[in-house]
Amino acid sequence: MSASDPGPEPLSPLADPHAACLPAEFVQRLAAILPPSHHAIAWASFAVAKAPALWLNPLVADPADTRAALAALAAQHPGASLTPLRDDALLAHAFPPDVLSRSPSVTSGAAYLISPSSLLPPAALDPGPDDDVLDLCAAPGGKTLQLAARIAGPADAPKGRGHLAAVEAVKPRFFKLQGVLSRFGALARPGVRLFLKDGRSVGHAVPERFDKILLDAPCSSEARFDADDPDSFSHWSPHKVAECAYKQKALLHSALMALRVGGTMVYCTCSFSPEENERVVLDVLEELEGRVVTVPMTLPPMTPAPALQAGLFGLDHALRVLPDDTWDGFFLVRLEKREASPASLRTDRHTSREKPHGRGVERARRR
Ligand SMILES: C[S@@+](CC[C@H](N)C(=O)[O-])C[C@H]1O[C@@H](n2cnc3c(N)ncnc32)[C@H](O)[C@@H]1O
Repeated sequence: MSASDPGPEPLSPLADPHAACLPAEFVQRLAAILPPSHHAIAWASFAVAKAPALWLNPLVADPADTRAALAALAAQHPGASLTPLRDDALLAHAFPPDVLSRSPSVTSGAAYLISPSSLLPPAALDPGPDDDVLDLCAAPGGKTLQLAARIAGPADAPKGRGHLAAVEAVKPRFFKLQGVLSRFGALARPGVRLFLKDGRSVGHAVPERFDKILLDAPCSSEARFDADDPDSFSHWSPHKVAECAYKQKALLHSALMALRVGGTMVYCTCSFSPEENERVVLDVLEELEGRVVTVPMTLPPMTPAPALQAGLFGLDHALRVLPDDTWDGFFLVRLEKREASPASLRTDRHTSREKPHGRGVERARRR
């Protein structure tokens, strides 16, 4: 090969058989974000059946007892196994279909089946027993449960004065959330309340109210695409991404308005699109002119640890979980409010707009 020979053309990502099953424009966009060394791992991750995590729910049972019950279940199924993912979660490998979801540990509420990536945001927010916490987009409730458990603290710890408000705008999903929080023991805790409400109106209704807020925003769900299931991505288009970003900005404005000065929040999505992640946060931070800043996050040790990209597109401290055979792609960033929201934003179109069905606050449970 001569010095002037450019060599072979780099292979298009669409040459990968797994990538070829996904929307071509999505693949090209994702290929431009991921490090090239991770491309093949990422494309394969959309076609692999990942081991679910089991979060050991201390609201219902002693996690040590649940771990023992699950180990006994694994022993009954040749090939099935459990490996520790985090101190409060296991990875469940090669269990026959439905065995885990029908197991007494899960049906009793002692263990919750969840994507490993969904264990990250509650850990990044890390609320304590005295925190007033808002979960702004809560259904079906896996992260709400983890927040409730962190506020409750260990069984033998003195009870704090913390509260948890969980908001969901979509009625059938609200009732799903209610069912999950009831079955998994969160509604039996004092101070856990649910609201059927559009999250975009919460900041306006209760400004500067919460110590910690989780905004697990509705998104284009790109990280959940399944190469073998076209239904999982049939809704996707750049227009859908833009629509999501518009709503996400409104929700983020509302969340930041509801956050007290000195409080922290976590914004996260299961999308890869910068428009739904870094761009949303950068735009809102710019509008708030330094009143809110990004701050570092501490994630607990996990095995296997996720591969991470940090601070992409100029957003300091933000993390992207790279998809692989354990982890779904995920974006998360932690924000701290340094100064009160300007009064002008309190009547902003972003925060006052809500769907007609979201006008009334439905207090489903108050204990
Ligand atoms: C990514 S999911 C949340 C998943 C949830 N945090 C969990 O871990 O189980 C986003 C949720 O936001 C809800 N949602 C959509 N628009 C909303 C709005 N304007 N206000 C509040 N919730 C909304 C969706 O119905 C959906 O349940």
